[in-house]
Amino acid sequence: MPDAPPALELRGLTKRYDDGTLALDNLDLSVPSGRFFGLLGPNGAGKTTLISAVSNLIRVTAGEVLVFGEPADTLSARRVVGLAEQDVNLDRFLTVEETLVYHGGYFGMSRADARARAAEMIDVFDLRAKARVRTPMLSGGMRRRLLLARALMHRPRLVILDEPTAGVDVELRHELWRYIRRLHSEGTTILLTTHYLEEAEELCEEIALIGGGQLVARDTAAGLRERYGAESLIEVYIKTVGAGRLASAANGSGPAAQRVV
Ligand SMILES: Nc1ncnc2c1ncn2[C@@H]1O[C@H](COP(=O)(O)OP(=O)(O)OP(=O)(O)O)[C@@H](O)[C@H]1O
Ligand SMILES: [Mg+2]
Repeated sequence: MPDAPPALELRGLTKRYDDGTLALDNLDLSVPSGRFFGLLGPNGAGKTTLISAVSNLIRVTAGEVLVFGEPADTLSARRVVGLAEQDVNLDRFLTVEETLVYHGGYFGMSRADARARAAEMIDVFDLRAKARVRTPMLSGGMRRRLLLARALMHRPRLVILDEPTAGVDVELRHELWRYIRRLHSEGTTILLTTHYLEEAEELCEEIALIGGGQLVARDTAAGLRERYGAESLIEVYIKTVGAGRLASAANGSGPAAQRVV
């Protein structure tokens, strides 16, 4: 569908936090509907801030965020976004099952639909043995699984995964990617951040590299490798958003030098 609005459209997106930190600096980005899209960049680059703006969790300083053509702060935009946050934020008084069913309720699912979908998610994420257990009693990896299950509960058209595989064991990682790939093949748009660059290289159809709150490069993994004469995405990353900072700090030149002790 050539006329379908992009899943995500950012125009001049700027975020300055109250303490003066400029986390996003006039960033433009468009993610076509149905794409598996990677957002890569070093710690503090602005990835989570960008995602928080898309998910309507923060007030942006300037610019526009459209989700399938609708402003991110509208109900219709919020309903189609499913976010698995980087920080695991679960209600400690709810069980696994309740966490999922209540989430379904918030997103307008009927009780019967929410219960059926919760059971499905519990199976997909292998949480059956813990369905009636309160969230503080889960292991770290199980909490991460629940977070992913919750993000997918309401069948979002845009799934945003902020470091989804941090702390997840090898088997689940494979399971998770199989499942996400299937969702993607069914038409779901995926926005992924990860520091596992091999993972991004294998999964993502397109990748945006961000540094200092700005878009530095955007292409397919192959396109990026070619443009930067690199053997791997890791090399591209180092050349674009990584190396300059570290090298200039090591040489005692460049703005980073003063900050590195
Ligand atoms: N609530 C906040 N108040 C002030 N500054 C913040 C806040 N949240 C994030 N920042 C700052 O904004 C910048 C971007 O942070 P952000 O969390 O978006 O980075 P990130 O790319 O997600 O990094 P990471 O890979 O470590 O998750 C950083 O300088 C960070 O310290
Ligand atoms: Mg982050």
